[in-house]
Amino acid sequence: MSDVPVTPAPGRWSDILYGWRDRLLASRRFQVLAARFPLTRGVSARRARACFDLCAGFVYSQVLFACVKLDLFELLARRPRAIPEIAEAVGLPPDSARRLVLAAVSLDLLQQRGPGRYGLGQLGAAMRANPGVKAMIEHHAMFYADMADPVALLRGQRGDTELARYWPYAGDRHPASLEPGEVNAYTDLMAASQPFVADDVLDAYPVARHRRIMDVGGGDGSFLRAVASRAPQAELVLFDLPAVVAAAAPRFAAAGLAARVTLVPGSFSHDALPRGADLVTLVRVAHDHGDDTVAALLRAAYAALEPGGTLLIAEPMAGDAGSAPMADAYFGFYLLAMGHGRARRPDELIAMLARAGFTEARQISTPRPLLSGLIQARRPTI
Ligand SMILES: C[S@@+](CC[C@H](N)C(=O)[O-])C[C@H]1O[C@@H](n2cnc3c(N)ncnc32)[C@H](O)[C@@H]1O
Repeated sequence: MSDVPVTPAPGRWSDILYGWRDRLLASRRFQVLAARFPLTRGVSARRARACFDLCAGFVYSQVLFACVKLDLFELLARRPRAIPEIAEAVGLPPDSARRLVLAAVSLDLLQQRGPGRYGLGQLGAAMRANPGVKAMIEHHAMFYADMADPVALLRGQRGDTELARYWPYAGDRHPASLEPGEVNAYTDLMAASQPFVADDVLDAYPVARHRRIMDVGGGDGSFLRAVASRAPQAELVLFDLPAVVAAAAPRFAAAGLAARVTLVPGSFSHDALPRGADLVTLVRVAHDHGDDTVAALLRAAYAALEPGGTLLIAEPMAGDAGSAPMADAYFGFYLLAMGHGRARRPDELIAMLARAGFTEARQISTPRPLLSGLIQARRPTI
């Protein structure tokens, strides 16, 4: 089965119209007129800005990376400071500190708070509130290195990528043979970014009525621990690779949940899933894998569920204009560098669920689709 979705060929007339539009937008005379004419001036300025942002986006990302690496948001959250003080605290020459601060102000990461004093900007304040964002930005150093030559990446000429090493279960080795040292970094990254995902998913789908809930590929159990407080009567089952499950055990114990959880080490590509759950969750799992692996995983989840049980798939999804840059650009290249998988549209996942035997598959809206979309499906009762 192909991993590449087929889109219908555009009609001939629309090609002609788009061709005319493209020639118009490329015409220097049109660009000059549009920039001067009062009714098109605003649109023209926004388009020019969008083009510039696309060209400069990698610099913006690296300004953010420098702020995070130097802990600038933490420093300025305590109180606004002047450049010499910032320079000393982060260990930069004053001119470099000023350059970084001005760049960060221009991106709304920082804000000028009076003559020569700087504090957090709106985006810096929001990012600081989410420890998962900091961890994500730091790990982007690997993605940035892998993207240095995107054409080589597309041609498959990059060889061993940094992200493939970071997410080794996507490679050719048997995933159950991975050692703790190979899974701990990604497990901690997922745990740091999980709370916001869990809040959105569990607000959108109330789990309280379920009695045995299995999270497959559940990492260190952060999602299940959030489930535990929403479904206080439910038994919990965590299925993940042996080295990941080993890291999860002390975290359940620390949360006082050791007695409620069954930890099952294994590989869903090689081992059967334990049976008897009335809710199975796949949170940020399917998009890491190719279609054949996901199809087999859905069949395994179906077999593991009781008749009448529910499957939830929660992950960022492709398909709507608002999330297209995230799904098709960010995840498109991230998963290429990692070696497997793709962000799927809800209708693709729903079709895969139907092929695995599920019924009543439907999308449930979530407050922040950039963090996670959500699909629910049922194993029929007979
Ligand atoms: C992107 S992480 C998501 C973790 C967690 N669900 C979350 O959202 O924070 C994918 C998880 O799937 C697990 N995984 C990948 N391949 C697996 C396999 N073949 N069998 C079991 N778990 C697997 C990984 O170990 C990892 O914990």
